[in-house]
Amino acid sequence: MATTTANGLEILLTREQIAERVRQMGEQITADLAGEKLVMVGVLKGAAPFLSDLARCIDVDATFDFVAVKSYAKGSRTSSGAVKLIKDLDEPIEGKNVLIVEDILDTGLTLTYLRKIFLQHHPKTLRIAALLDKPSRRIEQIEADYVGFAIPNLFVIGYGMDYSERYRNLPDICLMPPDTP
Ligand code: IMP
Ligand code: MG
Repeated sequence: MATTTANGLEILLTREQIAERVRQMGEQITADLAGEKLVMVGVLKGAAPFLSDLARCIDVDATFDFVAVKSYAKGSRTSSGAVKLIKDLDEPIEGKNVLIVEDILDTGLTLTYLRKIFLQHHPKTLRIAALLDKPSRRIEQIEADYVGFAIPNLFVIGYGMDYSERYRNLPDICLMPPDTP
């Protein structure tokens, strides 16, 4: 039987599984950036818990910045393709090692857009860390440098991820019941 939360949601990834994988990702990023400085750029709002945990598992001289994007949705589970920046970087990234931190790589439209505009600022290096990856949903050809978990085409909530802005504060990653409007 699948593990469920107190409110009856099915858990896909427990907080313990997430913590262990985030720790491993942090170790790998630390090794790859050894001796370098790093700017971690979180994609609001979903990546906030992941960035917060990942940053504390990365042992390099790091700063934080945040961007926010809006993707024009046909419905709350699908996007139309248009992505717009609604909050830009606070600090210049030219010549810096940049790590984009995103909750989930789905169609790839968001990260393709962000990668394109960040590259125009000529960072020294540009990497992507995505906690989740849904490779079967890809429209744009893009891969993350660091992936926490590859998952099937399921709609997930919790650990930052929302359904109509709700459920971001669930500590585990849960499945959205398919019959929800
Ligand atoms: P992409 O542009 O299609 O790759 O979409 C990425 C964004 O869509 C993520 O940052 C999430 O905000 C959102 N998203 C995609 N799949 C899910 C999901 O299963 N649950 C919650 N949000 C999702
Ligand atoms: Mg997001």
